[in-house]
Amino acid sequence: MKVFRGHFLKSQLILVITAVILGVCCPKIWEQLRSIHFGKKDTANGNLSAGNYNDLLFSKEQLNEFNGVDGQPIYLALLGRVYDVTRDEKHYGSGWSYHFFAGRDASVAFVTADFKNYIEEEADNVLALKSPAILSLINWERFFKSKYIYKGKVIGRFYNESGHPTKYENKFRAMAEEAEFDSFNKQKLRDKYPDCNIEWSMGRGFHVWCTESSGGKERNWIGYPRKLYGLDNADIRCACVKNENLDTNEVVIKPYDNCDSKSQECYYPVN
Ligand code: HEM
Repeated sequence: MKVFRGHFLKSQLILVITAVILGVCCPKIWEQLRSIHFGKKDTANGNLSAGNYNDLLFSKEQLNEFNGVDGQPIYLALLGRVYDVTRDEKHYGSGWSYHFFAGRDASVAFVTADFKNYIEEEADNVLALKSPAILSLINWERFFKSKYIYKGKVIGRFYNESGHPTKYENKFRAMAEEAEFDSFNKQKLRDKYPDCNIEWSMGRGFHVWCTESSGGKERNWIGYPRKLYGLDNADIRCACVKNENLDTNEVVIKPYDNCDSKSQECYYPVN
């Protein structure tokens, strides 16, 4: 026992002397040894657990500490995933425009731009958002994935304590897929039935007409102006319809009143 204690004290002494020497000449190596032997005092990755794909898992409180204050790195989360945004301190550092996002998952604010009111329980509750907002979030996600280093996941709404996707996450991804599908189909329809040019004057009301580039779609046909109805017959727009599509059943189209069916321009008064 005595031999063991003597040996232990001797190795402690060697460690202390090594630490002093390293601390003076190589602070970085010392810092690494310190974190291995004594546990890190600062929070950077200190007490975080590993998820199922070897990424880190953050509680909300742990994420809060990565806010760039007192030299901490800056992490932000979007849709439950954490990114290291320290390289853009001029956006996210204390006192800069987007510091609001530092150390938290404020996904909703990425589309509402409400940077004043932060309610922790609601800040990442994205399921109530409408399709365009969901698409916008997906674009933000692509942006963060491509620009910054991904660090891990937040335990909570999107990921559970083992880092597995929650039902909420699955539901969100299904909504996102549907929103992208709808947007793709809408774009396809817009390519096939491009918008008309439109102008308004006091005397004549609305004037709609088609050209080879109306609706921003360059093409080798002009088309005829028609009222094109949205899915729920709610939003109506003026679309240029190709001759061969005038009898289509794919979408609901109607001619303008008092306008020749083969005219490339129509006028209609404001109701
Ligand atoms: C929903 C509203 C908005 C949100 C959520 C938002 C969010 C952001 C974020 C997160 C960044 C940093 C991007 C990065 O990491 O590189 C950024 C950058 C920037 N934002 Fe916004 N923004 C919004 C609206 C606006 C508006 C309306 C303007 C201008 C009138 C604007 C101007 C800028 C500029 C100039 C940059 C810096 C671009 C650069 O230097 O790389 N933002 N925005």
